[in-house]
Formats: sequence, structure tokens, C-alpha cells
Amino acid sequence: MSFLKPVKMIIFANWKIYMRSRGEVKDYASILKNELNHFESDFLEIHIMTDFISFDYVNSCLSKTQIKTGVQDLFWEDFGSYAGEVSPLMLKDLGCSSAYIGHSERKAYFGENDESINKKVLACLRNGIKPLMFIGETIEELKSGETEAVLKMQLEKGLSNISLEMLKNTAIIYEPRWAIGQKASASASTISSMHKLTRKLLSEIYGSKHAQRIPVLYGGSVNLDNIREIVAIQEVDGVGAARAALNPYDFIELVRITEEEAIKRNRAGKV
Ligand code: PGA
Repeated sequence: MSFLKPVKMIIFANWKIYMRSRGEVKDYASILKNELNHFESDFLEIHIMTDFISFDYVNSCLSKTQIKTGVQDLFWEDFGSYAGEVSPLMLKDLGCSSAYIGHSERKAYFGENDESINKKVLACLRNGIKPLMFIGETIEELKSGETEAVLKMQLEKGLSNISLEMLKNTAIIYEPRWAIGQKASASASTISSMHKLTRKLLSEIYGSKHAQRIPVLYGGSVNLDNIREIVAIQEVDGVGAARAALNPYDFIELVRITEEEAIKRNRAGKV
């Protein structure tokens, strides 16, 4: 099996639960709609990861644009007796394009683990939703030299039973847990070497030809000051941002910078 289409760069805005009212949600969505109405790119995919409550509104508002909408988590069963959960089937029915799976805040506060992550990745793929699966080490794991073993385990378990065919709609994000919510991101050299490592680990699972085509993004304190440097790292296929994307105009600027890099790469034949 071969991947004929080039991999686009990808950018995600993660709202977490920062939107405090319907008014804020409406303002953000209408600014994006107006400013990026004509956005059309063969080289960049844009995803807004809303909370569950705002999803339907934002998705409808942006339906005539090229901007995709997704959620920050979902449950692994399609339906049944699971009080309080939101199912991938329901989300698909509303037009959900993508889902964050295994964000480190889910791991830290809500008991997410490699096994539940794998079930959720499979649930996404079964329903035609693109999973963005998180990997990344804690500060303790970094200090004790366990990063490679941790990433290997996260990839092997998280992607267990994911076939090559399913892989086409899957993306990975390397987000070191120590770099989230900070002033500075990981350094460019760390990002570069961690992405090389991730690609090597993916090659061990899928073979290098196929591993080559899986988008591997970076997340963790991406902002307007550092995004140029981060997206210029050859191994980085895109970024996820939370705080820096909360102002819609800032997010639009992050989009423009990433798209510039995506166009540059395409011209150079690298994407
Ligand atoms: P941040 O968060 O961009 O605010 O550091 C990133 C994330 O949690 O995905």
C-alpha cells in the first residue's frame, strides 16, 4: 500500500475550557469565519478543538470554510450505558473531523492511560474522525533518561491494532509534559531530536516508508514568538497551541506563519 497524497502541515487550536460564555464562542467563530472565509490551501489543515458544548455551534458557523472542527476527548464506545460520556458516533453525526486523544491533562487529572488511549484512537478511526494522539514525557522521566522508553511504550500501546490503512487518517503530537503552559517551548534542538526519535520509533512499528507519511506535530507553549522557528524544523509537520490560540487574531497569525512554511516546503518538494 502506498500513500499517494502528500502530507499537509496541520495546525490545531485547543480551547480547553477557556471559553467562558456563548458570547465568547460566537465572537471567536465569527472572526475566524470572516477572516479565513477564503482560506483554501493544499498545504495546510486547520483544526479548532472546542469543548463539547460549543462544538455544534462552531462547526455550523464554520461549515462553509475550510476550517475543520474537533473535540478534545471522546469515549471509546459508540453507544450504550455510559452515563456522562460523549460518543464518537454522536460526534460524527454532528460533523466532527478530529479529536485530541490522550492529552496530558487527561492523563494527569482523568486517569487516561495507554489502554484507554488505544481504544479511543480505534473509536475515532472506526467513525472517520482523525485522532491526534499525544505522546510526551514528564519532567521526571526526562531527568531520569527514560524519554525514549516512554515514547516507545506510548506509541506501541496507543497504536496497537492500528493498521496501515487506518494510519492514513492518524496524526501524532509530541508534547513534552514539562513544556505545556510555560513561557518557553522546548528548544528547537530538543524538538528536532525528539521528532527524529518519534519517526524512528514509528519506523520500527510500521517500516520507514509508511512512518515517513505519518504527521508528527509539536505542542507545548507554541506562541507568536517561537512558531517560526518551530515550524521551520524539518521534522515538524505542524503544531498545536492552546493559550496562544485563544485570541482569534493571534491564531490567524499562527495559521499564516505555518502556511507560509508549508508553501515553502512544498515548493522545495519536502512535504
Ligand atoms: P499551551 O498548551 O499551548 O498553552 O502550552 C498546549 C496544550 O496543552 O496542548
